[in-house]
Amino acid sequence: MDREMILILDFGGQYNQLIARRVRELNVYCEVHPYNMPIEKIKEMNPKGIIFTGGPSTVTDDDAPKCDKELFELGIPVLGICYGAQLMNYLLGGKVAKAPVREYGHTDVEVNSDTTLFRHVSEKTVCWMSHTIYIAEAAPGFEVTAKTSVCPVAAAQNEEKKLYCVQFHPEVSHTVEGNKMLENFLKRACKCSCDWKMDSFVETSIREIREKVGNGKVLCALSGGVDSSVAAVLLSKAVGKQLTCVFVDHGLLRKNEGDEVEAVFGPEGNYDLNFIRVNAQQRFYDKLAGVEEPERKRKIIGEEFIRVFEEEAKKIGAVDFLVQGTIYPDVIESGLGKSAVIKSHHNVGGLPDCVDFKEIIEPLRLLFKDEVRKAGLELGIPEHLVFRQPFPGPGLAIRIIGEVTAEKVKLVQDADHIFRQEMARAGFDRSANQYFAALTNMRSVGCMGDERTYDYACVLRAVTTTDFMTAEFAELPWSLIGRVSSRIVNEVKGINRVMYDCTGKPPATIEYE
Ligand code: XMP
Repeated sequence: MDREMILILDFGGQYNQLIARRVRELNVYCEVHPYNMPIEKIKEMNPKGIIFTGGPSTVTDDDAPKCDKELFELGIPVLGICYGAQLMNYLLGGKVAKAPVREYGHTDVEVNSDTTLFRHVSEKTVCWMSHTIYIAEAAPGFEVTAKTSVCPVAAAQNEEKKLYCVQFHPEVSHTVEGNKMLENFLKRACKCSCDWKMDSFVETSIREIREKVGNGKVLCALSGGVDSSVAAVLLSKAVGKQLTCVFVDHGLLRKNEGDEVEAVFGPEGNYDLNFIRVNAQQRFYDKLAGVEEPERKRKIIGEEFIRVFEEEAKKIGAVDFLVQGTIYPDVIESGLGKSAVIKSHHNVGGLPDCVDFKEIIEPLRLLFKDEVRKAGLELGIPEHLVFRQPFPGPGLAIRIIGEVTAEKVKLVQDADHIFRQEMARAGFDRSANQYFAALTNMRSVGCMGDERTYDYACVLRAVTTTDFMTAEFAELPWSLIGRVSSRIVNEVKGINRVMYDCTGKPPATIEYE
């Protein structure tokens, strides 16, 4: 590998994603691998530096995850963070013990700013601690470079061997000067030039994909979502017509979405690839007829999707590679040391079993969502696709309470379209992280002109969130909600009431099922 890279060895800590992210933000390419990666493999990779992550284990336990001691003899700079720091000291002869008091949260720390890691860091600074075990005595050859009122060894270094460790978490933003410390490690200890950029990601990936695929045939399930779109374009730039994208329109997409995907990826679009759109709307509606239970809907859609895809794959014949839009958070969720689970989303989850292929290609496997978006822009994908909000695999079926019918899909599509238009017009489309209209199963009496109506109520849902695990309802202006409400009731025949959902997650979920 000719680019400079940092290897992050994962000991199962909760901030592992963040370490990778910080290194990437400092313009150094990095990869995260399980702690037990064979030493030969590490030598082959020839990283400029290695970072040990934190982790939940107690290093003195027999079954605690440990690395090969030889790692410290390779001449490659190593930075141990939290558990990683304890492990480094423990393996090299230091003393690790239970701390007299547990340190958790913002903690004052005194650092020696004459040392590699803390150059240009204030002598008294604030760090983020989260530990019950600590380094009671640094390993021979190490000098202590930071301490707190509880921790005699909050950081230490063996400059000669280029080994550094910190008990706290420099990757967390609460460690006020953490970025500077990481930068010092990368620049001063590892001598990284810090010039890696997203365009080099695109360029390098294209080159690597070409080498890997050769003359092979590649198949991609395109959903129109950000991840699969970026993966498809990357592949198309690399191998052109050797790539076939299958886009299954299950009739549960947002208004006009099927046509929009076709306009970008189809024959009139911008890319060199084979595009197959399967209009399977009726098949899905037939299967969903009479089904009200949400999990059952999900299962039916997932199974039917696989069946449709399988039929198409058979028509194409044997393929060599299957493309997956797996991104880094999906990899992380798979847990310590295990290989990536394929996304549990219905539209990708079952594919490997139903398609005959030799290998999976996951070109985005090391990127975060916003990095995927950056790569998408770099690749010239239209902004409306790149900044598309998350959309569930089972689509509008989980935004319709009760039975799904073609008529109800049309109602929710039209209402949702109006809501999205008005959100964009009012400039709220980027401040709410996800927003949509859903259809309740409630019908009630209304009056339109002189006529009595007995129609559905729709719900507007808009949330702000960073991780989609928890969310707050978005505080939209009443004037905006009022405008959306009157447009929906006037323009969508079949809806006579509009409600705004002001429930957070928890206790509710974001979707409506
Ligand atoms: P909930 O409703 O669980 O949703 O609060 C959290 C986030 O996950 C999305 N979501 C899905 N995404 N396939 C997906 O690709 C799915 O089956 C699925 N279900 C929920 C949802 O849109 C929200 O962003």
